[in-house]
Amino acid sequence: EPEIITDKNQMRKWSRAMRSQGKTIGLVPTMGYLHEGHISLIKEAHKHTNLIVVSIYVNPGQFSPTEDLSTYPSDFDGDIQKLMAVPGGVDVVFHPYNLYDYGNSGVGGDGEVEKKGAVSCVEERGLGHETWVRVERLEKGMCGKSRPVFFRGVATVVTKLFNIVEPDVALFGKKDYQQWRIIQRMVRDLDFSIEVIGSDIVRENDGLAMSSRNVHLSTEERKKALSINRSLSRAKFAAEKGQVNSGELRNMIIQEINEAGGRIDYAEIVDQETLEAVEEIKSPVVFCIAAWFGKVRLMDNMEINI
Ligand code: PAJ
Repeated sequence: EPEIITDKNQMRKWSRAMRSQGKTIGLVPTMGYLHEGHISLIKEAHKHTNLIVVSIYVNPGQFSPTEDLSTYPSDFDGDIQKLMAVPGGVDVVFHPYNLYDYGNSGVGGDGEVEKKGAVSCVEERGLGHETWVRVERLEKGMCGKSRPVFFRGVATVVTKLFNIVEPDVALFGKKDYQQWRIIQRMVRDLDFSIEVIGSDIVRENDGLAMSSRNVHLSTEERKKALSINRSLSRAKFAAEKGQVNSGELRNMIIQEINEAGGRIDYAEIVDQETLEAVEEIKSPVVFCIAAWFGKVRLMDNMEINI
C-alpha cells in the first residue's frame, strides 16, 4: 500500500531520507482519475528507479476560469485501489490540498490585483502566487493557441513538483506530446538535474486514446471520437506510402473528423522536436490533433519516423 503524503515539507523530507540511503526516485505527475495510460508510466518508471512517487493534484494554474476545473473527474479512493494493483507497487502518493497556499508568509496574499486579469484559476481565486515558468516558443502553438495559460500552469506546477519531490527521473505520456516536449526543454533550459522520459500512448481496444475526460463522452460521441485515431492511422499510412505533402494529409484528417461530427481545434503536422509546422515531410514529424465531441475536447497524435 502506498504511503499518502499531503504536506509538501514532509514529501521533501521523505525524498531526502531515501536519497541519503542511496535510493533513486521516479516521479509520475498526474491529475488523478487514473487509467491504464497513467499506470503504464508507473510501469516504465520501475525500469529506471528504485522508488516511485505518483502525484495526484488537479492544478488550478493550468485551467482558465472558463474551463472544466470544477467538473474535472476525481476518485481518490479508486485511484489508490488501482495503484495497489500495479506490479512493483507505488511507494508514495503525493496528494497536496493546495500547492499555491503560502499561508501569511508572503505579500499579495489577497490577490485583488491579479483577479482583474484573471487568466487562470489561481488568479481567479486570489491565491497570491505570482511567479510563472514559460517556455516561450514551444508553448505558443497547438494547445497553447486555444489555451493561452495552459502551459504556463503546467510548467510552473511541474517545477514546483520537481522542487518538492526532487526526483531523479520524471515520466510523461506522449499522449500530451507538446506538454512532454515543453517539460523536456524546461529541464534543459533551467538545468534541473532530472531525466525526463516520454512514454507511448495507451489506447482502448478500439483505438481511442485513454484520457480521464473520456468518461464525459456519451455512447454516441465516443463512437464518433474514433474518427480521430482512424484519421491519424490513415494519414500515417498515406505518408508511409509516399504522400509527403502536409496540406493533403491534413485535409484527409480534417475531412474525416468533420464528417464524423467532431469540431477540430487544430490538426497539425509538426517537427517532433521543434514542433514547427512542416510543409513537406522529410524528417521525423508528429501529426497532432485536438477536437471537440460535444463538450469534450480530445487530443491524440501519431509519430511518423521518415
Ligand atoms: P494527466 O492528464 O492526469 O496526465 C498525467 C500523465 O499521464 C501525463 O504525462 C499524460 O501525458 C499521461 N497520459 C495520459 N493519458 C495517457 C495515455 N493514454 N497514454 C500514455 N500516457 C498518458 O498531464 C497532466 O495530467 C497534467 O498536465 C500534469 C502533467 C500532471 C501537470 O498538472
